[in-house]
Amino acid sequence: MAQSSTADAARPSAPVAPSEQYNYAIVKKFAIMSLVWGVLGMGVGVYIAAQLAFPFLNFDIAQISFGRFRPVHTTLVIFGFGGNALFATSYYVVQRTCQTRLFGTRLAEFTFWGWNAAVFLGAITYMAGFTQGREYAEFTWQIDILITVVWVAYFLVYLMTLLRRTQPHIYVANWFFMAFILATAILHIFNNLAVPVSLFSLESYSLFSGVQDAMTQWWYGHNAVGFFLTAAFLGMMYYFVPKQAGRPIYSYRLSIVHFWALVFLYMWVGAHHLHWTALPDWVTTLSATFSILLLLPSWGGMINGVMTLSGAWDKLRTDPIMLFMITSLSFYGMATFEGPMMSLKSVNALSHYTDWTVGHVHSGALGWVAMITFGSLYHLIPRLWDTKLYSIRLVYVHFFLATIGIVLYIVAMWVAGIGQGLMLRAFDEFGNLSYTFIETVVFLHQPYVVRALGGGLFLAGMLLMAFNIYKTVMPVHRALKAAESRTAGGATATARA
Ligand code: HEM
Ligand code: HEM
Repeated sequence: MAQSSTADAARPSAPVAPSEQYNYAIVKKFAIMSLVWGVLGMGVGVYIAAQLAFPFLNFDIAQISFGRFRPVHTTLVIFGFGGNALFATSYYVVQRTCQTRLFGTRLAEFTFWGWNAAVFLGAITYMAGFTQGREYAEFTWQIDILITVVWVAYFLVYLMTLLRRTQPHIYVANWFFMAFILATAILHIFNNLAVPVSLFSLESYSLFSGVQDAMTQWWYGHNAVGFFLTAAFLGMMYYFVPKQAGRPIYSYRLSIVHFWALVFLYMWVGAHHLHWTALPDWVTTLSATFSILLLLPSWGGMINGVMTLSGAWDKLRTDPIMLFMITSLSFYGMATFEGPMMSLKSVNALSHYTDWTVGHVHSGALGWVAMITFGSLYHLIPRLWDTKLYSIRLVYVHFFLATIGIVLYIVAMWVAGIGQGLMLRAFDEFGNLSYTFIETVVFLHQPYVVRALGGGLFLAGMLLMAFNIYKTVMPVHRALKAAESRTAGGATATARA
């Protein structure tokens, strides 16, 4: 049942350093860019959180106003921070578990530059006021084409590496990564089908309209959550949790059931974002049914991850990286419990149009996505540079800052969201609304301040991580450069002689 968790077992006959056997250079680049976008994206997140609490921070400057900065935030954190972390870890995991070098060095290099150019151009165009107006798919059509080309290259690199594996077995983490790559391709293409206004215009019209448009958008939107923010990070979890714990995954069979149930169920649930709208009632009922069912594989996966530590719980006392991983799994469990509850029509009638949704999003995004990424990168980066982390104590400080930050964020959003929802539908004895809209806005001020504070703590942790990694990597980098220039100097001297 419990197979080798990492399939790293077989070693090549001649001892070759992993950094030479595998393409680590590309993994390093993506890992570092993930941290760069993480700092920027979370910085913008804290700024827009402060704008909601103190609107003067918009300063009447259109480019940094909340409306334009919000998609900058979501794009930088999801595609910049999360996307780069996924490229880094998937390229690492596929090489290590297949015991083979990454296919297509140049092609992989292209995915790095192409992907990061798309994220950068996205942020610039939103600030300039250009957007497709589709949530998490705001990129204008030219950038969409660039992303499509990058994604095809990614698919090729990944698939060809799998095909030339020297191991008979394809470890389950690769299944999750592969599902993420394939599903994202389909979602991206269909959701972005559009007719450009002209060849030189940044504007375009969606091929869909009305109810079909809404359905396509949320079919994309929830599967972006399902495949980008969940399946892919589960791939990360299935490799790095057993690695860090030094134990095989609790149940390999459960991980396979988890995989098939998850990929089957996610595709159906998008319409739970459109309860009580013009969509046919049966469509939203179907989406709620599948959402409830999703609880089972999600919790199966969470339990599988957590139980990997059984017999080694003491690691939690001594290993802050393990703390990140196990906490992330707890938040995964929490968000995947809250989500199905919110998909019930009666609960959604209260939660939709309120900050409860934003709280749910961030218990998934900060608690699950960001925490598993932090844990995995702390594990990965020292191995890539063949060194030790600069400071374990700083990892502890990061962990506590991040955890307190998340708790402040989501508790503030529960208070804001549930309060707001109840106020919006309270009636007096004459059947009139008990509160004016502006009263609900005034009520939100305090929770918004607390959220900004929580976000600030989370960002402080992210900054500490960037510092810790900088101090970890730089000495090795300098030593390598010095060795290179010595070799080059020696070579020149030999040539002269
Ligand atoms: C320092 C940490 C962060 C802070 C302070 C923060 C703050 C915010 C704020 C203020 C919003 C706008 C909410 C609104 O429209 O009312 C937002 C939206 C969003 N953020 Fe963050 N964020 C942070 C980190 C992240 C991370 C790491 C991710 C993803 C990995 C993320 C994903 C999102 C998403 C998906 C939305 C859209 C939510 C929705 O439409 O309901 N955020 N964030
Ligand atoms: C079983 C798993 C899950 C289910 C059934 C689920 C369900 C839901 C529901 C019902 C909503 C509110 C829709 C609305 O009222 O508009 C929602 C919003 C959202 N959820 Fe989840 N959720 C799940 C897990 C997650 C996880 C793990 C994450 C993050 C990693 C996440 C990210 C989001 C985002 C980003 C939105 C906001 C979309 C928007 O309005 O912009 N969800 N989810």
